[in-house]
Amino acid sequence: MSIEIPEGLTELLQSFTVEVLRSQPRDLLEFALQYFTQLKDRETKEASRGNDQNSAPRPGKAVNFIDEAMQIDSENGEEEEEDDDDDDDEEFIAPVINRFIRRASVCAEAFNPDDDDDEDKEPWVTHPKTDEQRQRLQEACRDILLFKNLDQEQMSQVLDAMFEKFSTEGEHIIDQHDDGDNFYVIESGKFNIFVKVDGIDKLVGCYDNRGSFGELALMYNTPRAATIVAVSPGALWCLDRLTFRRIIVKNNAKKRKLYEAFIETLPLLTSLELSERMKVVDVLSTKVFNDSQQIIAQGDLAVSFYIVESGQVRITMKRSRTKKDQEEEEVDIATCSRGQYFGELALVTNKPRAASAYAVGTVKCLVMDVKAFERLLGPCMDIMKRNIANYEEQLVTLFGSSPEIEQHSA
Ligand code: CMP
Ligand code: CMP
Repeated sequence: MSIEIPEGLTELLQSFTVEVLRSQPRDLLEFALQYFTQLKDRETKEASRGNDQNSAPRPGKAVNFIDEAMQIDSENGEEEEEDDDDDDDEEFIAPVINRFIRRASVCAEAFNPDDDDDEDKEPWVTHPKTDEQRQRLQEACRDILLFKNLDQEQMSQVLDAMFEKFSTEGEHIIDQHDDGDNFYVIESGKFNIFVKVDGIDKLVGCYDNRGSFGELALMYNTPRAATIVAVSPGALWCLDRLTFRRIIVKNNAKKRKLYEAFIETLPLLTSLELSERMKVVDVLSTKVFNDSQQIIAQGDLAVSFYIVESGQVRITMKRSRTKKDQEEEEVDIATCSRGQYFGELALVTNKPRAASAYAVGTVKCLVMDVKAFERLLGPCMDIMKRNIANYEEQLVTLFGSSPEIEQHSA
């Protein structure tokens, strides 16, 4: 007796299996329901957009899910080895991986963010998620600056495309000089950053349960600039290269146009080359604060650096009224307006915030996260340090002494 296998069945089941193996859902039935519902929704959406038969997502069109699996496995030799231990999994996944190995490196692809044709060629990547996963994902992405300027539709495209990856202690998430495949958002776990100096890995920093990495290779079509190693077991959310470029890089092109002129006027950035200044624009996001809203709280841990785009910012410091007095009062110590920056001191000194900052009227700031600050603003450090030295004078003039700053500039 011969049984006819319907066209697309094998690929449909394979792509579903890859998703299950990667996402490890607790509720398999619920996951299956969401997976196939989203696949059907996408098919309906694309069909209603009037796509021809060839581009409509038949079951075999779920290649994006499979492509992703290949990218993860090829990035990480260890994962392939782990699969070797599991005969059942290997039997099932192997044909899928082999089929796509010939697509090899995606890094050679040129992507012109202004070229809309590219966007239409491939369907949007979607990784179905349970409600619980989506909630965790949204929480992890809440403070990711690269996502801050996205509109609602772009943000939901990004969230749809992201997929979960659990890392094990010692696992290399990224190896320096490799091609870039994904951008990573940290949900939990510590990750060390190594950069090769004279061929030897040098520890240059650490992500501690927050932040994101892996954007540089995707933004600038360059090899990975650092190695990222999981120090503890952790959970990451990954965004594939294509979606990253379609949304984030495209958005950055618009941002460059918008901020090019303003950035050129900033005295702080005069030591940077033009290309470095543009890299600064790429990582900046904008944030609007309402009148009296607190932007920085004295004593808090620092995660961001700010440049004022419009409006005024009041800098205040808590001081005891008298030496014996327990009660503190908050005193104005400075004002920042368009083109000026604040929030650098804690990042430079690795100390808590030395003062508070409040919006006066509506304030728009450009915001940069600590890792981008460290990476990009090294050449501007002289100017910042000169200004930090002025803070001391400022406080001496105001209060007659400056114990806090002595501590901070040590
Ligand atoms: P990418 O080059 O794609 O991959 C390695 C990532 O490490 C890089 O993007 C940055 O996101 C991150 N990173 C953190 N600190 C540094 C650093 N000092 N130099 C280069 N990359 C860094
Ligand atoms: P940071 O300590 O990160 O957060 C508060 C910011 O206030 C601080 O960085 C400086 O950018 C800014 N500031 C302005 N004047 C002073 C001052 N006299 N002392 C300390 N911080 C100041």
